[in-house]
Amino acid sequence: APIRPPDLGNCRPIQHDNLNCCPPYCPTTEIVDFRPPSDSSLRKRRAAHRLVNDQEYLCKYELAVARMKALPDSDPRSFSQQWRVHCAYCEGAYPQVGFPDREIQIHGGWLFFPWHRLYLYFHERILGKLIGDDNFALPFWNWDAREGMTLPAIYTNEHSLLYDKKRNPMHEPPVTVDLDYVCCDDDPTLPREELIEKNLKIMYRQMVSNTKTKELFFGKPYRQGDMPHKGSGNIELLPHNTVHNWTGDPNMPNCGEDMGVLRSAARDPVFFAHHGNIDRMWNIWKTCLPTSPNTDLTCPDWLDASFLFYDEEARLVRVRVRDCLDTTALGYTYEDVHLDWLHAMP
Ligand code: C2O
Repeated sequence: APIRPPDLGNCRPIQHDNLNCCPPYCPTTEIVDFRPPSDSSLRKRRAAHRLVNDQEYLCKYELAVARMKALPDSDPRSFSQQWRVHCAYCEGAYPQVGFPDREIQIHGGWLFFPWHRLYLYFHERILGKLIGDDNFALPFWNWDAREGMTLPAIYTNEHSLLYDKKRNPMHEPPVTVDLDYVCCDDDPTLPREELIEKNLKIMYRQMVSNTKTKELFFGKPYRQGDMPHKGSGNIELLPHNTVHNWTGDPNMPNCGEDMGVLRSAARDPVFFAHHGNIDRMWNIWKTCLPTSPNTDLTCPDWLDASFLFYDEEARLVRVRVRDCLDTTALGYTYEDVHLDWLHAMP
């Protein structure tokens, strides 16, 4: 059977750190079923490194984040609740309904792509709502393109709300991201051009050579009653995990905060740009590769897995994996960017 939505009345604080990641909830809260958005225009997510000089966009994005941070903690749309949504779904806050000793875990298996897509979807719409802009779209961190292989500059200005101080101080721009980074194997002697070529080959390997089966792309099946972490898909392992680890600060007491630790990762606004690119990879895998068209899984236990999110009106929404397979139907798309790795056959 598919993973069922959590019972928000049965959410547990995280043991570790005494962190409470449970969302505001009262038993009378109505749960509504997801309906695709009806706005007519498509939100276009653009590559973060191309936005440095777009003052108009940056003002909007920063204003939206400022308003999100200014909401009271009791509001599920506030920044402090938004990052906790990720924490709750990854640190065992929700037992599976009917299996009190098994947690709902959205990493390490086939829920990885759809859950994060939906998380960004609601987050983006809340940001747009806060500035009254139905077209607002998150940027994506284009780490698979030569020009995008540094921490995007828009996130690195200390005076901006997009900044987070819990990052690796050695990885400020112009340092090149290492897509198969393992903490802390920095090699400052490696010429930038070589690292870029290595990254492009990694992208080719992870997107083309290593995804011959759907399971290798999406991850292993994970159903109601299963123990979590059945097996990650290739993209989740790399570059997803590696870019998280590369970004976080290894000197923090909990080695790797913010980005390098699951429960704190979404406290860093760059999380949403990183996941924008992960989400973009799902679309690219389906339509743009030599092996395409690749199709989504068809197993009902995947399609009917469902989650709860608060939407831009603070309504509690139940949404299924099958609701999120088409990004156009969700009202957004990605800027077309050249795929530098498409012919980077190792
Ligand atoms: Cu849910 Cu990038 O982690």
